[in-house]
Amino acid sequence: MELVHTISELKDAVSNARKANLTIGLVPTMGALHAGHASLIHRSIGENDVTVVSVFVNPTQFNDKTDLANYPRTLEADCQLIEETESEVEASIAVTRTVVVFAPSVQEIYPEPDTRQFSYPPTDSVMEGARRPGHFNGVCQIVSRLFEMSDPDRAYFGEKDFQQIAVIRAMMHDQGFNFQLVPCPIVREESGLAMSSRNTVLTEKERETATAISQILFQSQELSKSLSVTEVQKHVVDALNDVEGLEVEYFEIVDATSLLPVNNWSDAEHIQGCITVYCGQRPVRLIDNINYR
Ligand code: PAF
Repeated sequence: MELVHTISELKDAVSNARKANLTIGLVPTMGALHAGHASLIHRSIGENDVTVVSVFVNPTQFNDKTDLANYPRTLEADCQLIEETESEVEASIAVTRTVVVFAPSVQEIYPEPDTRQFSYPPTDSVMEGARRPGHFNGVCQIVSRLFEMSDPDRAYFGEKDFQQIAVIRAMMHDQGFNFQLVPCPIVREESGLAMSSRNTVLTEKERETATAISQILFQSQELSKSLSVTEVQKHVVDALNDVEGLEVEYFEIVDATSLLPVNNWSDAEHIQGCITVYCGQRPVRLIDNINYR
């Protein structure tokens, strides 16, 4: 594993890979890596000669300054997890791969403010987009730059951020990025709680309380076989709001492609339930989603 901090070092590694006809996988992250990220990195190392893992807490996607300041920064531990994952994959496929960790400073990425505007309604204006103004614009700013710098054949994103994947797909189409976006399944703790960097700030009691989110979502998958969309939606919201320490911000049952709400189970081929819940005193904002059809 090689750790680089500048765009020119990253571009050198990418250009060497291209000259040698090697394939490149990109795993964009904001660090504080956990088993969910490890699954993306694992997959990229298995599928590409060279994997670029970016570790960058992108200021332009935070609409809350305290959230940005408090975001965990753990580069040493992140590199350790990446190295362990690399060794694991290399041992299982008996081939040596190249892994480049790109951990730039804010100045390196944004020497000038990025004034580009990305707008993909309704994908970026519903759910998270409606509640976190500017968030997806910031995501598109950094992801488009990472795509340009690392020139990947494949880019890997976790399905926990279901809406983010839809927005990035729209951005790729709009900006002419013509490579494969690889969505990777949510990795859950044994309790069912979706892995998230934010889980580290939950107290033990809050972490236990938060397990209700996935439990009730899984229960709703069963209920969706007999109840209507409206009944399932009400069940999830009421059941979670009944748990002390949890408060649902939104739970929407949507067409998995357009992200617009559905009224009936027959309204779309793929239907997803997307939820954001506040947990505990601070509170910590947790997201999750579940597939119904
Ligand atoms: O999902 C994330 O961690 C971030 O939104 C991403 C894609 C790395 C962009 O900063």
